[in-house]
Parts: sequence; C-alpha cells; structure tokens
Amino acid sequence: MSDAVPNGGELQPPDATGAAAVDAERRQFMHRMLNLGLGLWAAGAVGTSAYVAGRYVWPQPEGGQTGGERSVSFPLAKLDQEPMVKLLVEGQPVGVVRVDGTVHALGLVCTHLGCLVGWSPEARQMVCPCHASRYDINGAVVQGPAPAPLKRYDVRVAGDTVVIS
Ligand code: FES
Repeated sequence: MSDAVPNGGELQPPDATGAAAVDAERRQFMHRMLNLGLGLWAAGAVGTSAYVAGRYVWPQPEGGQTGGERSVSFPLAKLDQEPMVKLLVEGQPVGVVRVDGTVHALGLVCTHLGCLVGWSPEARQMVCPCHASRYDINGAVVQGPAPAPLKRYDVRVAGDTVVIS
C-alpha cells in the first residue's frame, strides 16, 4: 500500500515553476488549436466560394459531367440560345460557336499570357480582352500579340447532340 502513494500519502504543494510551465504549454497548445481551427475554417470558406464562383462562370455541362471528361456533350439547341456555349473539356475552358451552320470548338485560353478570350459574333472572331489579340474561327491568329493559334477541339454533331472531344 505504501508504494501506491508517494511520500507516505502526504500531499505536497504543487511546484510553482512546474505549474507555470504546464500553464504555458496548455496556452500554447490552445493557441495552436485555435489557429488550426481558424485556418481550416478559412480554407473551407475560400474553397467553397471558389467552387460556387467557378460553377457560376462555368456551368456544369448537362448529363452530370464534371468538366474533367475527355468528351463533353450538350443539346444542339443550346447554340440557338447562346452565341457561344462554354464548357470544360479535360478541365480546360472551351468555347463552342456555330458559324454558317458549322459548329466549331476552340480553347479559350489566349496563347499570349493566358487570359480568357470571348466570342465576337459581329467580327466572327475570338477576341482577347487583355491585349486585343484576335483569332479566326479556326483558331488562327488574326492579330497579335498572341504567338500561336488557339487549341482546336473535335466536334461531332449526332442528331440533337453536340459532342466535343
Ligand atoms: S493575354 Fe491575350 S492578348 Fe495578351
């Protein structure tokens, strides 16, 4: 029995230096946990906001596709409603337009410094808002400073569906 309680069962006053060290460690631990919690909360808030903003700018293609697919499809009728249908193909932004009955799909990342180009129906060109590069409907550079053409994607119209790959 006597070996279960040190000092013969007599209570000793806590060591003031040890108690202060334990308090400091506890405060430091709580501070770290608070910072970790705030960091996780901030990361979650930023991630959620980015996802929502991304979905607003790049609506999810129909059929439950996520944009990471090699092949993305949408109803042909959508081109009657929008001058350019924007999609993600393998994670890359792609613009689909119809000119004189032919459907074209081009990458939207400008080859100059990577801004996203937009479709000008009047000019029938992709136009970069950053430094005014212009591309024709085949993606060729019409006006620099873009050094290379836009990426072209294969287009297949199958009945009422457009398939981009
Ligand atoms: S990024 Fe497009 S012209 Fe500069």
